[in-house]
Amino acid sequence: LTQNLYDNPDFFEGYSKFERSICGLDGAPEWASLRAMLGDLSGSRAVDLGCGYGWFCRWARDQEAVSVLGIDISELMLARARELTIGAGIDYLLGDLESLDLPEASFDIAYSSLALHYVERLPALIETIYDSLVPGGRFIFSVEHPLLTAPSTPEWIVDPNGNKAWPVDSYLHEGSRTTEWITSGVVKQHRTFTTYLNVLIKQGFTVQHVEEWGPTDEQVKQRPSLAEERHRPSFLLISARR
Ligand SMILES: C[S@@+](CC[C@H](N)C(=O)[O-])C[C@H]1O[C@@H](n2cnc3c(N)ncnc32)[C@H](O)[C@@H]1O
Repeated sequence: LTQNLYDNPDFFEGYSKFERSICGLDGAPEWASLRAMLGDLSGSRAVDLGCGYGWFCRWARDQEAVSVLGIDISELMLARARELTIGAGIDYLLGDLESLDLPEASFDIAYSSLALHYVERLPALIETIYDSLVPGGRFIFSVEHPLLTAPSTPEWIVDPNGNKAWPVDSYLHEGSRTTEWITSGVVKQHRTFTTYLNVLIKQGFTVQHVEEWGPTDEQVKQRPSLAEERHRPSFLLISARR
């Protein structure tokens, strides 16, 4: 059974306080990298899987995508997306990525930001995405980095000198992790870096670019707290072509 975390009012409220929830794409430090991977969207048909508040959907429309479909399992996230969206050109749809149906060969771009690490049946979803893209269509996504999803206790360890280290255990043990993040009982799916690549390759995608995101010097200067992200990447970004 899919956990619909973002419809839990406490979780929804906690998530709404993050910088990325308030400032949108510009509040997400990895956005510049994703944006570079996305390239030109004009004239394209785009789908956003786990669209949340719809930040990407609105950006894609502003980039002159001809149609944008945003899909999410959370009614609260979709309600916020609709509130924030003025004008036409975007359809929002309630849907579960665990059992998604998409029309075949109908999109030029499939995008997903920080949603696929919630999905248990990833190979089935990757097949659905592949089939929904036209030949040459692109799939660009981010997930929490496997070094973040692996540990049973994903918290910094600080030694008596104040040095931080990130604990990694059970890295090769793929599957569910239940941790505390905003609320307790949050379930994410851990899979290795290799699995993310091989699931795409096995499906027939050509992997075009992979990035283990870390902050630039300029970002650290503007937000010194980002410096700790250099101990380990927090996001994995991948672009692939059908
Ligand atoms: C971290 S938020 C990211 C939202 C948006 N992509 C962004 O980057 O601003 C993850 C989103 O994925 C959605 N999600 C998680 N599991 C899902 C599933 N099985 N089916 C559809 N959406 C899902 C959540 O409801 C939430 O809106």
